[in-house]
Formats: sequence, C-alpha cells, structure tokens
Amino acid sequence: MSKNKQQATWGGRFDNKPSDLMLQIGESVSFDCRLALYDIECSRAHASMLEKVGILNESELKSILAGLDTVEKAIESQNFEWRSDLEDVHMNIEQALVEVSPEALKLHTARSRNDQVATDMRLWFKDACVSVIADIESLVQSCLEFSEANAEVIIPGYTHLQRAQPVPIAHHLLAYVEMLVRDMNRFSNVWDSANICPLGSGAIAGSTLPIDRLFVAEKLGFVDDEGCPIITQNSMDAVSDRDLFIDFANACAVTGMHLSRLSEDFILWSSSEFGFVRLPDAFTTGSSLMPQKKNPDGFELIRGKSARLIGNTQTLFSMMKGLPLTYNRDMQEDKMPVFDSYDQLTLMLKVAAATLSDVTVNESRCAKSVSDPLLLATDVVDYLVLKGVPFRDAHHIVGALVKLSESLELPLDELPYDKVKVIDERIDKNWLSVFSLETALKSRKQIGMPSMEQIASQISALKGRFTNS
Ligand code: ARG
Repeated sequence: MSKNKQQATWGGRFDNKPSDLMLQIGESVSFDCRLALYDIECSRAHASMLEKVGILNESELKSILAGLDTVEKAIESQNFEWRSDLEDVHMNIEQALVEVSPEALKLHTARSRNDQVATDMRLWFKDACVSVIADIESLVQSCLEFSEANAEVIIPGYTHLQRAQPVPIAHHLLAYVEMLVRDMNRFSNVWDSANICPLGSGAIAGSTLPIDRLFVAEKLGFVDDEGCPIITQNSMDAVSDRDLFIDFANACAVTGMHLSRLSEDFILWSSSEFGFVRLPDAFTTGSSLMPQKKNPDGFELIRGKSARLIGNTQTLFSMMKGLPLTYNRDMQEDKMPVFDSYDQLTLMLKVAAATLSDVTVNESRCAKSVSDPLLLATDVVDYLVLKGVPFRDAHHIVGALVKLSESLELPLDELPYDKVKVIDERIDKNWLSVFSLETALKSRKQIGMPSMEQIASQISALKGRFTNS
C-alpha cells in the first residue's frame, strides 16, 4: 500500500489531500446518509454473492456480515460518526466496516459506487412509492368520508370561477378522488420501473470477475410476480440513467398540483364571500394584528409547496440534459430534489387528509348560493330541446330570458309569464318546473354525472376498493 495514500478509498494515485473546499463541495453524506440501511442491505447481498462465486470464503463472509450488523446497529442507535471527509454514505459505511471486519477490504470487489448508489436509490424509490401510495389512500378516505357526511349538500359548480351548474359537493370531492387514484397509479408505475437491479454494472462496464447478478437481484427483492429476478440490460445506461428520479419527482409534482387545486377550492370556500365551509382551528392561524382573522395557512402552504415539487422536477431535468454518458459527479445532486419532494409531499398529504376530516360545511350558505336560478339556465335550454327547438335557437332564447331578468332586475324564475311568452311562444306556462334542483340532479343520471344515485354508487365502489385494506 502506498505510503502517500491520502484518501482512504481512492487515494492511491494522489500525492496531496483534497482541499477543504473540495471536501465541502464534494460531500453528500449530509443528505445521502438516509440511504444507509439500503446500502448495508446491498452490501449483504453483494458479499453473499461474492462468497457464492468463490471470491470470498465462508469465514470472510461471516465476518463481513457480522461487521455489517455492527455498523447497522451503530447507525440505528445514532452512535455512528458520519465523516464528511469520506464523502458519501457508501465510503463511510465501508470504512467503518473495515475497522470492525478487516475482511471487508474485499467487499468492494466487482462493485463501484456508481452501481451501488443506483441500487440504493432504486430500493429507496420502491419504499417511497409504497409509503406515498398509503398516504394518498388516507386522503382518498378523508374525501370519501367528507362526501358521505355531506351527501345532501349541493353547491354551485364553477367554470371561469363563475357560477355554472349545480353539483353535490360530493361530486366535487369525488373529482379529486379520481385525480388521486391516477396519482396512485403513477406511483405504482414508478415502483415497477424501480424494480430492476443495476448492481453488477460496476463503474461503467461491469466486471471481468464471475459475479452472479441474478443472485444479487433476487436477494434484494428485484423480482417479478413469479419471483424471477429482474436486472438492467446495459451497464452504461444502468449507472447513468436518472429517468426514475425524474419520474418519481414528476409523480410528486402532479400529486402536489392536485393538492394545490384542492387547497385553493377550500381556501375560496372558507372565505366570507363563499362561506361554504369552516376550516378546523387546528390547521388555521390567526393574525398578530387583526383579531378577527382565521387564515387558511395549512392549505396555503400546501399550495405553496406544490411549486417546490415542480421546481424539483425542473432541477433534475436541467441537471441531466447536457450530461455525456456515463456517470458524472453532477449526478450526486440528484438526491436532494427527490428526498425533498418525498418529504414535502408526505407532509402535504397528511395535512390535507387531517384538515379535510375536520372541515365543517355551512349548509345554509351552500343552499343560498345554489338557489340562484341562473344555475339552471342550461336546463331550460334542454327543456326547449325536448320540445323540438334546435339547440342553437334554444340557447339564444334562454339568453334573451337571462337578459330580460337582468333588465327587470328579477330572478329568472320570477319573470312574468306574459313577458316570457313574447320571447318565444314555445315556452309553456309549466316551464318553471325546470327550476327544481332535485329534478336537475335526478336527470343527470348517467355514469360520470352528478345524480345522487350515481354519487352514492361511486362512493360505495370506491369504499369497497379503498376502505382500510
Ligand atoms: N456520492 C456519489 C453520488 O451520489 C456516489 C457515486 C460516486 N461515484 C464517483 N465516481 N465519484 O453520485
């Protein structure tokens, strides 16, 4: 061993130590230490494989495995000294391991930090997807409970933030459930993409040694439904592919965007102007100056943090787009954005679920808003269509009725019939029967529409699918 060696793992060809600034810019252990247990798992599988193919003997393997247990315990009990001069989680663990098990000097055989970090991250992504899916599911439960608890409440639905047509508030919440179900599918697809083992790709071109990649993949749980191991097919791609990071961050960003829109709806609904809901004290804050204020900070922060998730996706795209194959150290910057997206999204999902389960609906304010007869103007058009009036004409006729109601300053359903008749004589005296919310919703009875029956059957189907499985 060279006596000039200045760096424990790669210092052989160097005369001088890295500068302190190089250590500062180069270290990743401050954030990749959260991969420690995955890294140890990978080392266990790798060591077992080295023994299987005859590179380690039984007693060397035993010593390495015992050493890994010791290091793992130290990390779990927070008795592990993370050293930034050792750069990253991989070298910290290897150095500590060699101290308790000198046989571990053989552990890095046929392995590089490049395939090691790719493998650690794939294991991390698989767990992260499972935990995000569980948190999304809890939010779905809260949406379903809210929908059931307020099954009778009807509110105006909006387009352009202008009153459009009446909808049960449950229909509005179930729209978010649809988004959240797509989000779960997105994370489940990311899980599938993560479930491929890159270990054995080495630094760039695999290894000359007789390693057994399938054995390692199987040991680490990179297997298909039949239990067959799945491994990457190109060593250069395997050590420099970061699509998975982008896919994961993107799945977080899309879910965050949905949560942001949900938050915005509740922020609007809780304002004095709408007054549809009251937010729980636990997720609102007061003003240091204005004693009357109850601010929707929880939802606002979800809305704000969703921007951060989108930003993390952009960071990863920008970081990758100009990199030549294969590994470049730029890629060390790939972890912070995905850890941040995961941490923030997890918090956002938990806050959204907890807030929703404590929101109360102000039924009388909803009833007052939805009693606006203009919300049923389209239903009057449909009424004329059923009488054989062409749709474009019917639309025009109802437009004239709306104009009349504005000029007479009378609600649409209080226009004097003699004036109505003048606009179009095909409007019968019984046209006022259209102005029933009950009929309006009952008639919207097909799949995807907001009749109470449709909503009830959707809720029960969703509950069957998601109730604490
Ligand atoms: N800490 C590094 C990273 O996260 C591990 C890979 C280092 N590889 C290397 N060739 N320097 O990217």
